[in-house]
Amino acid sequence: MRSWASSPPTRFSRLPPRFTDPTPEPVSAGEAAGAASLAVHTQDLAKRYGRTVALTALTMDVRRAEVFGFLGPNGAGKTTAVKLLVGLARPTAGQAWVLGAPAGDRSTRRRLGYLPELFRYQPWLSAREVLGLHCQLAGIAAASRREEIDGALAWVGLADRADDRVGGYSKGMQQRLGLGVALLGRPELVLLDEPTSALDPVGRHDVREIIRRLKANGTAVFLNSHLLSEVEQVCDRVAVVDRGRVIATGTMAEILRGDGTVRLRVQGLDPAARLGAFGAPVVEGEWITFTGLEPERVPELVAEVVRRGARVYAVEPRTRSLEERFLQLLRESEA
Ligand SMILES: Nc1ncnc2c1ncn2[C@@H]1O[C@H](COP(=O)(O)OP(=O)(O)OP(=O)(O)O)[C@@H](O)[C@H]1O
Ligand SMILES: [Mg+2]
Repeated sequence: MRSWASSPPTRFSRLPPRFTDPTPEPVSAGEAAGAASLAVHTQDLAKRYGRTVALTALTMDVRRAEVFGFLGPNGAGKTTAVKLLVGLARPTAGQAWVLGAPAGDRSTRRRLGYLPELFRYQPWLSAREVLGLHCQLAGIAAASRREEIDGALAWVGLADRADDRVGGYSKGMQQRLGLGVALLGRPELVLLDEPTSALDPVGRHDVREIIRRLKANGTAVFLNSHLLSEVEQVCDRVAVVDRGRVIATGTMAEILRGDGTVRLRVQGLDPAARLGAFGAPVVEGEWITFTGLEPERVPELVAEVVRRGARVYAVEPRTRSLEERFLQLLRESEA
């Protein structure tokens, strides 16, 4: 029997038909070939609204089965980026490919899942009916719809309220339903614009689990968020965006790279011991703090301390929290 969690995607267009295809910009053969293996590839993508620069010079890759976080403060350009990728807005410059096709390509939309930032479903319909309607819009075969709907309801934890009217749903339940709609048809790429903004801690945890399961099933996830902890916990790579510009990009480890501070808890070290080769340490009781030390030199430092007859109880490299780093990046970008 076909399993909901592992079956291949069915054909599904996430977007209602009123959104017409934008005319893709010319694409070179080499670029198109490179983009085919990626979930998303953009080159100098930009969008202006009149004199407002919503997004500028966005060049990024999102790999298949990767969770990519797009992180930035209000008004940074996150929603604009997602709208460009799904073809709801047209770029003013640059190019974007999604699942190997120019962004907005109609047949590729069937392979995308999209949770918009602001959405409202018909309040007189039940969740099951909303999902059924979207199955229909997507062209999912009638024989598969029941399984699709039950699968989506189970994934987002709405199975026991499936037949209640959406008008009576709490904000968080509506957001879960939106996520369920985005998962219909088992998309290869899911774009989530602030998926947990209305959710309680349990709901946020559930969404993280859903994202992890999507990744495990080979689905790429593009996650817009200003919730640092959310991004920190689920994303493989992150782009930090501010006022339309990407100000940092990389793996979480790269973004959070420490500043070379390491603390040792040591007993029995001769106070006169010279460890100057490792910088000027600051001693506080049993704790000795070194700064500006390359990570590769930490074992050497520990060996040296031990060689001097001391006992080492703890070695703690200092890593910055994402929040600390995020605020630092924003300060630097303002400077
Ligand atoms: N349709 C529009 N018309 C005019 N300006 C727009 C439009 N959409 C976005 N903008 C502007 O583009 C900039 C980026 O907006 P965007 O919605 O992409 O930000 P965001 O990062 O998603 O913010 P938030 O965290 O508040 O959702 C803002 O200055 C916004 O006012
Ligand atoms: Mg937004």
